[in-house]
Amino acid sequence: MVLQYFTEENANDAVLARLANCSNPRLREVMESVTRHLLEVVREVKPTPAEWFQAIQFLTETGQMCDDNRQEWILLSDILGVSMLVDAQNHRKPDGATESTVLGPFHVDGAPVLELGATISRDGKGDICVVEGRVSDIDGTPIPGATLDVWQASDDGYYDVQQPGVQPEMNLRGRFATDADGRYWFRTVMPRSYPIPDDGPVGGLLRGMGRHPYRPAHIHFIVEAFGFDPVTTHIFVAGDEYLQSDAVFGVKKSLVRNFATVTDQAKADDFGVPAPFRHVEQPFVLAAAPDA
Ligand code: BEZ
Ligand code: FE
Repeated sequence: MVLQYFTEENANDAVLARLANCSNPRLREVMESVTRHLLEVVREVKPTPAEWFQAIQFLTETGQMCDDNRQEWILLSDILGVSMLVDAQNHRKPDGATESTVLGPFHVDGAPVLELGATISRDGKGDICVVEGRVSDIDGTPIPGATLDVWQASDDGYYDVQQPGVQPEMNLRGRFATDADGRYWFRTVMPRSYPIPDDGPVGGLLRGMGRHPYRPAHIHFIVEAFGFDPVTTHIFVAGDEYLQSDAVFGVKKSLVRNFATVTDQAKADDFGVPAPFRHVEQPFVLAAAPDA
């Protein structure tokens, strides 16, 4: 091996040569790429020592902000578009299948299993909204017994886990199973646009970049059925002011839905809600599991 001292010119070669004994091919591939790109950023940006220290401080604070309820690193990945790119690369769907989007940090395992038609609102705050649809395969065959795990933020724009003691536990969360015709329906309240947590370093970075922290109003879903590829997705409210500037780049055209205002009392009676109410129809189409 030729002895190589580090110089500005040979930085890549000098660092990459140290991977010679890396026996994990994937780690080697990842570290080669990270090294090349990171050194290129430094070459391009030419940070001063003070700027580099500021970057180190930002990364330190990002880590220190993390605990069981707060994942600042995921927020950083989200606002930089990394989460959506990883999702896109790993969830390429056949035409016609429901598109995926980010899971986000507020999913909770073990949401209550509810009867079709039940409400997921435990605090009763907000305008009543009925969500219904059918889960089917790519050919349109209904899937009975598919499960839908649903969650959303409150009328005030916070998830229950962000406000322990303020919202009831499991507020605006529920799991449903489709009936024999693959249909589902449940009651909730109209989702609202809300800011992602912006009181930490990621919020500071957003402000520094002249960006807002808002996500357009949405309802989260994980839809699963035996033999099918599960889909983690949202539906977004058409007309929301943040559809084109979602802080985490999660919006896809196919996921934007019309939440109609229904005044017809007979329809309200069908769902056991007072008129007027909001109503959205959302079909889910699952692709076959790769190994099915
Ligand atoms: C969410 O929609 O719950 C979410 C997604 C990414 C970052 C923060 C929140
Ligand atoms: Fe959300």
